Amino acid sequence: MVSSIVTIFFFLISLTIIVSSTTDTISDNFTISGDKTIISSGGIFKLGFFKPGSSSKYYIGMWYNQLSQPTIVWVANRDTPVKDKNTSVLKISDGNLILLDGKNQTPIWSTGLTSTSSVSPLKAVLSDDGNLVLSTSDSSATVLWESFDHPAHTWLPGGKIRYDKRTGKSQKLISWKNQEDPSPGLFSLELDVSTAYKILWNGTNQYWSSGPWNPQSQLFDSVPEMKLNYIYNFSFFSNATESYFTYSIYNHLNVSRFVMDLSGQIKQLTWLENNNEWNLFWSQPRQQCEVYAYCGSFGICRDKSQPFCLCPRGFKPSSQKDWDLGDFSAGCVRKTELQCARGDINGFLPLSKMKLPEKPEVVVVSSVGNCASACLRNCSCKAYAHDGGSNRCSSWSKDVLNLKQLDDDNSEGYTLYVRLAASDMPSGGSGKSNKMMIFGAVLGSLGVIALVLLAVIVILRYQRRKRMRGEKSDGSLAAFSYRELQNATKNFSDKLGGGGFGSVFKGVLPDSSDIAVKRLEGISQGEKQFRTEVVTIGTIQHVNLVRLRGFCSEGNKKLLVYDYMPNGSLDSHLFINQNEEKIGLVWKLRYQIALGTARGLAYLHDECRDCIIHCDIKPENILVDSQFCPKVADFGLAKLVGRDFSRVLTTMRGTRGYLAPEWISGVAITAKADVYSYGMMLFELVSGRRNTEQSENGNVRFFPSLAATVLTKDGDIRSLLDPRLETEAVDIEELTRACKVACWCIQDEESHRPTMSQVVQILEGVLEVNPPPFPRSIQALVDTNEDVVFFTESSSSSSQNSSQKQQSHASSSSSSKKTTNNNSSA
Ligand SMILES: *[C@@H]1O[C@H](CO)[C@@H](O)[C@H](O)[C@H]1NC(C)=O
Ligand SMILES: *[C@@H]1O[C@H](CO)[C@@H](O)[C@H](O)[C@H]1NC(C)=O
Ligand SMILES: *[C@@H]1O[C@H](CO)[C@@H](O)[C@H](O)[C@H]1NC(C)=O
Ligand SMILES: *[C@@H]1O[C@H](CO)[C@@H](O)[C@H](O)[C@H]1NC(C)=O
Ligand SMILES: *[C@@H]1O[C@H](CO)[C@@H](O)[C@H](O)[C@H]1NC(C)=O
Ligand SMILES: *[C@@H]1O[C@H](CO)[C@@H](O)[C@H](O)[C@H]1NC(C)=O
Ligand SMILES: *[C@@H]1O[C@H](CO)[C@@H](O)[C@H](O)[C@H]1NC(C)=O
Repeated sequence: MVSSIVTIFFFLISLTIIVSSTTDTISDNFTISGDKTIISSGGIFKLGFFKPGSSSKYYIGMWYNQLSQPTIVWVANRDTPVKDKNTSVLKISDGNLILLDGKNQTPIWSTGLTSTSSVSPLKAVLSDDGNLVLSTSDSSATVLWESFDHPAHTWLPGGKIRYDKRTGKSQKLISWKNQEDPSPGLFSLELDVSTAYKILWNGTNQYWSSGPWNPQSQLFDSVPEMKLNYIYNFSFFSNATESYFTYSIYNHLNVSRFVMDLSGQIKQLTWLENNNEWNLFWSQPRQQCEVYAYCGSFGICRDKSQPFCLCPRGFKPSSQKDWDLGDFSAGCVRKTELQCARGDINGFLPLSKMKLPEKPEVVVVSSVGNCASACLRNCSCKAYAHDGGSNRCSSWSKDVLNLKQLDDDNSEGYTLYVRLAASDMPSGGSGKSNKMMIFGAVLGSLGVIALVLLAVIVILRYQRRKRMRGEKSDGSLAAFSYRELQNATKNFSDKLGGGGFGSVFKGVLPDSSDIAVKRLEGISQGEKQFRTEVVTIGTIQHVNLVRLRGFCSEGNKKLLVYDYMPNGSLDSHLFINQNEEKIGLVWKLRYQIALGTARGLAYLHDECRDCIIHCDIKPENILVDSQFCPKVADFGLAKLVGRDFSRVLTTMRGTRGYLAPEWISGVAITAKADVYSYGMMLFELVSGRRNTEQSENGNVRFFPSLAATVLTKDGDIRSLLDPRLETEAVDIEELTRACKVACWCIQDEESHRPTMSQVVQILEGVLEVNPPPFPRSIQALVDTNEDVVFFTESSSSSSQNSSQKQQSHASSSSSSKKTTNNNSSA
């Protein structure tokens, strides 16, 4: 009896808790305070007080109710936080939704409606699409205000970004100030009168635009990658008073959002249920340093390094706390204040390979020497640069914004000289510097304008490390010093090619063996992690994979060393001039290359300890040895650059013709992405040409759709064959198999594509292959019959690639132990 009363008692308590915590409505009867929240009726979104990170301030925010990562999508009181959520309250009052702060109940945020005509009580309902709607609670439910009209930094599906034609104003998405401060930051996205989205810095400087909306193609001019997007349905609305975009998600189960990020980039993210994380798959501008003034005054932005921002020598972050929270906008300040006017000695610090800041105050024609001395003499001159070509001298008297350091390979760029207190100048005698230093110093005496210009050239070279050549430090891998590789490659002078992960240079070791040295870019990993990863790659050995010979890791200098292969890469044998007499490769060799490549990939996918996804299969990455045995190059590198898939996507822009659709649809990438690229390449082996080609009359020929048509309509399979092989006795059985398997490989559904081991078995004739269906995305391209935006653009860059001598690195001695896959499948 007693126990049942107790049970009922607890039941009632839990019932009250459930009842009170599952309403979706703020009304006269329900206010938000303390830990109370409202949840949308389907349980998707939640609204209540939150505290970002380690901040001590509270905000009214909206977030996903069911995701394991707290993700705020809307903030009401962005710049008026409250200190105590228990005494603050969000409620309906005076025809508005208002937030009252603290014991005095001061109103600090409100929906700001002035009309008090409504007599009916109001309610604010949180809906499942993430909209908080204030309306009358009578049967008409007249909407008075909705949070979709007042976005913070996130644009949810169903939301609108509106341009008001009468006022000429746009709604904006504005980034947070930093990770812990949702108040409006410097970066904003808005719609302009020409129907283009643009991103502005501090409401003024535009640094990215989507280009106007093209009603015909239903795309933004500068965002062609929207084309192959199976997630979003964008639509545009316009009448006399307003225009706006909205979007929906085809599959309502997918969770997705657009964010104006702290980084100054607009980002599209989808939730990956299996990984429990947000996957970034599209962002603009692509490069961090394209974001205007990202690193603030005197901050130097470098795309290929992490962190992206750094301060020049003699400077420090003006607020380390802000930098730690991801806000670099305050930039750098001098460690020692300039006391120029008092006649102190100043120096000029050279910053090389710079993109110059905007708007120099003075530009005059003068020699280098005059340029330097003019700036030195004038205390308000903070920086100068001299352009040898035009003999022009530019100088700046204010803080310089938008400093950007270009890559080492980039031949452009200027040297910017920045004024520093002499005590902060690198001193010639310390021996710490290994760079060439030029600085001028001025001696002012007793306020008399008597100046002496000193130019001191100090060349310091010192060897940081002993030579380590030949030292086998990590298993069978040799560790090289940077200096050694610099010598071997004649200071990286003979470039063999550039790839997604860095450029490749030819080199010769002192023992006169030829090597190919890959200088990696964008490696964000720590030393230990890098070595671990490289050693892993070094242990992957297969007759159809190039073998890593050694590496170099000194600070951010990361290089990989492979054997040099004079026979080059597949594209150089395949895509030779069609008019030449040569037939490129005979059919037998092509089939052998297709099979060998498939074996190499199958080994990467199945036989290694962790499945390795190559991510960049294309003819340029298939090298051939003297026997025309194919060797897959560049594997394992996608992992080295980290799990940020968008980053990989960025680096793979040039090879989009080989990219599987899931790269742009935002799902996690699996080994089947390689299968897709392999299929594309297999078609090229058959036709002997790039899949996408523009003919003389301007038509775009897309071979895979041609092939798919022949295959699905029982056409003449021989018509697909490289015309140069016409006279050759080609095994039709093999040709059919190759075409069919290629068509299976490029199916949209990953589950419809075979695995690489199945491909091997099919090509070996062990497995039968059924007639393939027409791949859907290719079907779409055929249907619309317009120019194939997504595929054509790559052809120019890839043909440029193919005309270059290609990198080649291979292993002559890799006929070693681990050829199990080869044996078992033979
Ligand atoms: C408040 O509660 C009363 C009684 O439970 C109910 O009649 C009224 O409709 C509620 N008001 C709102 C706005 O929900
Ligand atoms: C708010 O109230 C909860 C319990 O109702 C309490 O645990 C918490 O410490 C209070 N917070 C503050 C800041 O007073
Ligand atoms: C942004 O612009 C305002 C004037 O509109 C100016 O006062 C402010 O200093 C600017 N912010 C920065 C970081 O330059
Ligand atoms: C895309 O959205 C528009 C407007 O909401 C709608 O009319 C259209 O049917 C949608 N298209 C698809 C394919 O769902
Ligand atoms: C334009 O459309 C909006 C609704 O989307 C409507 O409120 C407004 O009255 C329309 N303007 C004109 C001139 O039709
Ligand atoms: C969308 O939802 C479907 C079904 O839940 C899922 O299979 C697919 O992976 C999701 N796509 C994305 C991009 O999350
Ligand atoms: C010093 O430099 C500033 C800006 O760079 C310029 O406006 C000023 O005229 C210069 N003064 C002299 C004396 O050259």
